[in-house]
This record gives sequence, C-alpha cells and structure tokens, in this order.
Amino acid sequence: MATATAPAPTKPDVQIKYTKCLIDGQWVDAASGKTFETINPATGDVIAQVAEGDAADVDKAVKAARKAFESGPWPKMSGAERGRLMYKLADLIEKNKEELARLETLDNGKPLRDSLNADLPLTVACYRYYAGWADKNHGKTIPVNGPYFCYTRHEPVGVVGQIIPWNFPMLMQAWKWGPALAMGNTVILKPAEQTPLTALYVAQLALEAGYPQGVVNVIPGMGPGPGGAIARHMDIDKVAFTGSTEVGHLIMEAAAKSNLKRVSLELGGKSPNIVFADADMDAAIQGAYFALFFNQGQCCCAGSRLFVEEKIHGQFVEKLIGIAKSRRVGDPFDMKTHQGPQVSREQFDRVMGYIDKGNKEGAKCVTGGGRVGDRGYFIEPTVFDGVRDDMTIAQEEIFGPVLAVLPFKDTDEVVQRANRSMYGLAAAVWTKDIEKAMRISQSVRAGTVWVNCYDVFDAAAPFGGFKMSGVGRELGEYALQHYTEVKTVTMKV
Ligand code: NAI
Ligand code: MG
Repeated sequence: MATATAPAPTKPDVQIKYTKCLIDGQWVDAASGKTFETINPATGDVIAQVAEGDAADVDKAVKAARKAFESGPWPKMSGAERGRLMYKLADLIEKNKEELARLETLDNGKPLRDSLNADLPLTVACYRYYAGWADKNHGKTIPVNGPYFCYTRHEPVGVVGQIIPWNFPMLMQAWKWGPALAMGNTVILKPAEQTPLTALYVAQLALEAGYPQGVVNVIPGMGPGPGGAIARHMDIDKVAFTGSTEVGHLIMEAAAKSNLKRVSLELGGKSPNIVFADADMDAAIQGAYFALFFNQGQCCCAGSRLFVEEKIHGQFVEKLIGIAKSRRVGDPFDMKTHQGPQVSREQFDRVMGYIDKGNKEGAKCVTGGGRVGDRGYFIEPTVFDGVRDDMTIAQEEIFGPVLAVLPFKDTDEVVQRANRSMYGLAAAVWTKDIEKAMRISQSVRAGTVWVNCYDVFDAAAPFGGFKMSGVGRELGEYALQHYTEVKTVTMKV
C-alpha cells in the first residue's frame, strides 16, 4: 500500500476571478446577496465565496435570455456567424487551458494531468465540433400531394435551462452549450454547487468571444434553488439535466407540471464490463482498471460491474489487485498522481457507506476499503470480489473508486445478468471472438457499447442512456434535435 499515501497537498497557485452570477452580460451578486462556499476537496479548505442564486435570479436571467432570443443581434445572426463565435470561444479556452485546468483541479480534486490531458482537449474539441454544425443543420423540401410547395425549417427551441454536475464541470458545460448555441438558442446554466468556478470563467470567455448580451447566463447555487426554478419556469422552453436519477425524476415532474418544456436527461449507470477468457489479458486488465478508477470512479458510465469469465477469474483478479495497489493517490496538483480526492465530504461519506455495505453483505474486499490520510476526501482504490447480482454494490451507482467483480460461466448467462439493471448507459466487452463481440454489442441494452476499449469519447459520437439512465442523446448530430424545433411550411403554388 506504499503508493496509497496522501502527501500534504501543495498550496495551489490559482487566482479566483469570477464568483458572481452572469445575467444579461453583467456580473452581478445574487438578488438575495447570499453566497456559498466552494471547497477544495483535497484539503477541505474554502476556496472562495460564490454568489448563491435562486428563483429571482433565474427569473432575471430568463427575461434577459428571452429578450436576446427575440431581438438584438442574436436572432439576426447567420449560422456561419454563430459558428465563428463558437470557434472563438474554443480558441480562448485553449489559450487559457493551463489556468482552466488548474482551476478545475482545485475545485473538483481531479488530478491535474487528467484536467490537462482529458477535460481540456475534450472541451475544446466539443465546441469546435458544434461550431461546425452551426450552419449545417437545415430543413428539407418535401414533395407533398397537390399544388403545394412544402419545406421544413429547423428553428431554435428558444430559451433553454441547463443543469450540470460536478464530475466533469467544463466538459458538461461544453456538451450543453455546444449544440444549444450552435442552433441559435439562448441559455441559462446552473453549474453544480461543488464546482462552479470553471463555468464562470468560461462564461467570461464567451463574453470576450463576442456572444451578445443575454445569450449566455450562469446562475450558481444549490440544486433546489436555481435548479428547481429552471425546471418549473413557465418561460423556459427546454431543460437539459445531467446528474442523479433521483433528481432526474424531479426535473421531469416539474417540466410536466409547468409548461411541458422539453426534457433531456443524462442520469446514472451501473455499466457491465464483460471480460471473456479469450481476451487480450493485459489490455482487458488495463481496461477494467481504467473503466472504473478513472476520475476517482466518478463517471456515469463507469464499468462498475466487472463480469469476468470463471476460467480466468482468479488470475484476473490477482493482476487487478496489483495495479489497483500501484495507483498513486494524493495531491492532485502533483503530475505523478493518478487519483485525487472524491469531490465532497458528502460523496466521500456515500462511497464509504457503500464499502461498508459490501463488507456487511458478504462481498470480499480484496484490496483497499479505507480512507487515505486524514484530511481531504481520499479513498483507497477498492476491489470487491465474489460479488453477487443481488448485493447493493452490484445494483446501485457508487460513484467512487470501488470495483465489483462478478464471475460468469457463459455468454447467455452474462447477457441476462448484464441486462438485469434499471440502468442502461454503457457496456463493454473484451474478446478476440467477433461472434461474442457482436452478440454482446447487439443484446446489451445500453446507449454505448465499447468493444476491446473503454471510455472512448468523441464529440461526434452520441452518448446517452436506455432505461432509467436517461432520455435522449447528447453529442453528435443527435444532440441537435433537442435544440431545434421543426417547422413545416406549406405554400399553395
Ligand atoms: P445531483 O443530481 O443532486 O446534482 C446534479 C446537479 O443537479 C447539480 O447541479 C445540482 O445542484 C442539481 N440539483 C440537485 N437537486 C436539484 C433539484 N431538486 N432541482 C434541480 N436541480 C437540482 O447529484 P449529487 O447529489 O451531486 O450526486 C448524487 C449522485 O448522483 C452521485 O453519487 C452519482 O451517483 C449521481 N451523479 C451522476 C452524475 C452523472 O454524470 N450522471 C453526475 C453527478 C452525480
Ligand atoms: Mg444531490
């Protein structure tokens, strides 16, 4: 366990520049004057006080966004011009990438090498991808019966509210802003209360890029405050949410009870990662490790149910324990660190609670299981073997560095067991047999299936859930649908 030590975190040298609400192009305090603390999860120290928005602030932002949508430069802009603004925003993010990566690491706790090598490039790529779509999503002419000329227009939905989580703050903002702004909508973003800082910084860059006043608005604050206000607002046309399944229910309910605003949801998962005995063993072990432990286990698509074919189960788990033990847990600003703290005290307690449940329900903790150090929210990379399908740790999303290994005998059995979940976000299969790869990828009910790889993301490839993992798809061409209304125009000729 020599590597699982938390060296005293360095005092990060990051300046905090933006902590207010952005409404109608102005940085303003919350109407109530209230603020909340955002915490450095590596130490538990307060980083900054941030404006705590609420329903009144959302209302002001909606009025600004509505005005921007209906009059002013935004609705007159061509798709190509909107694309140019988005390319500019991408360039500005890239130019400030060191500072943004440090800010993300400070607020979220993720290792700086991940912020720099994953979050930042994926964020920039996402804005550029959607910049390209801005002038390419258009209607059709339709040969209808009779003396009519019929065509469709793809129009923006209007004012959209977007509520994002803390696990990939900047990237989730990009997944939301990319398609919304490319299609000509105006937005009100509610970042997670754990990680508001990079969203505010990127909002400032959007102003610098030249987005007209009121097109982007950001209201930090607690979930039920500005988040709830967005979900039930009568003048928001669409709400997009990423987060827990529990809150997903609330968002849909609020939308149903208010103005039937369009809803897209990206929720939890309990993704099966299936390893057959014929797989490239080293690649599968690395893949199983990465699939779960990346980002402190805080990924909606984490490969948290690791199904390993019985024949290789013993040696596989042995090797997995080896790499889990070599994982360096500690100061996220140290470029050698693989794993930082969990995002918050609440998440730390939740994950430790699941470890406790795993032990109590009779799973075998073969490595880890404890806290690392005595400050910050660090948890040992943990592997449970001998996990049964009915155990809590095989059913509920843990969202931490806790892997459950479940042995299996044959393909039919593993397909059935993989699908025995209320979730259906992602899945993976490791095998050299094309038949098995095809069989699994076609029969597993999940929005994404990786074959001999894991967590391969691209802005062009759609992502989202079957079943209770969500509604709709983000990324790629599919995401544009959430942000466009189709209008049919029929003209007598
Ligand atoms: P959460 O769903 O409460 O938070 C996500 C976002 O929703 C945040 O911006 C939050 O402020 C907002 N929110 C919370 N309550 C709201 C409400 N009543 N109305 C509108 N917005 C609201 O997730 P939380 O509590 O941070 O994490 C709990 C669990 O959720 C995690 O352990 C994990 O299992 C899951 N989760 C899944 C994520 C994903 O990527 N799918 C991301 C974050 C959490
Ligand atoms: Mg919550």
